[in-house]
Amino acid sequence: MHTVKAIYPGTFDPLTNGHLDLIARGAKIVDELVVAILRNSEKGTPLFTVPEREEMLFEATRGFGNVSVTTFNGLLVDFAREQGAKAVLRGIRAISDYEYEFQMAMMNRKLDPELETLFMMPAEKYTYVSSRLIKGVFQLGGDVTALVPPLVVDHLSSGIGLGFVVDLMCRTRVEGFTGMLNLRH
Ligand code: PNS
Repeated sequence: MHTVKAIYPGTFDPLTNGHLDLIARGAKIVDELVVAILRNSEKGTPLFTVPEREEMLFEATRGFGNVSVTTFNGLLVDFAREQGAKAVLRGIRAISDYEYEFQMAMMNRKLDPELETLFMMPAEKYTYVSSRLIKGVFQLGGDVTALVPPLVVDHLSSGIGLGFVVDLMCRTRVEGFTGMLNLRH
């Protein structure tokens, strides 16, 4: 039987309602969807560690029979090949996403002509939602509860993401800094 396995790669820091919307759409059209968190992201200070993100994604996608969650390092094309995946799923919210996504899709095609990139659009209400904006708003004390799944809100409200704290400690070099923060771990 002909089955389609796709990878939905990303940083997911944090997981947003837009990501979940895309996972639900992708899971309807492919047989198997692997949500893959990039471990060696160069996207500045993380809000959550990779294991925290993996745990949240795992919980949030528990209800889908054909969705799994994992992490990867290195080239996406190599990971896709290892997984036996034929496609990569990516979301496009607005024209502003297009250039970045186009370059990435073309580079991946150059690296592996057999791997296709599928683009899907999230629900209109999520077109302005991005992890980068949510991270920024949250770090400045803004309310992001309508934009992320409830379990991400729980993680945020029970203490700042561990990744953010570790990075802040390294940068401030203040001993005993942890005592000033309400840490979950
Ligand atoms: O959520 P993001 O940060 O937009 O996801 C970007 C991601 C993880 C899909 C991209 O950075 C990636 O695939 N990185 C792996 C390295 C790689 O394969 N680079 C070459 C393709 S441009």
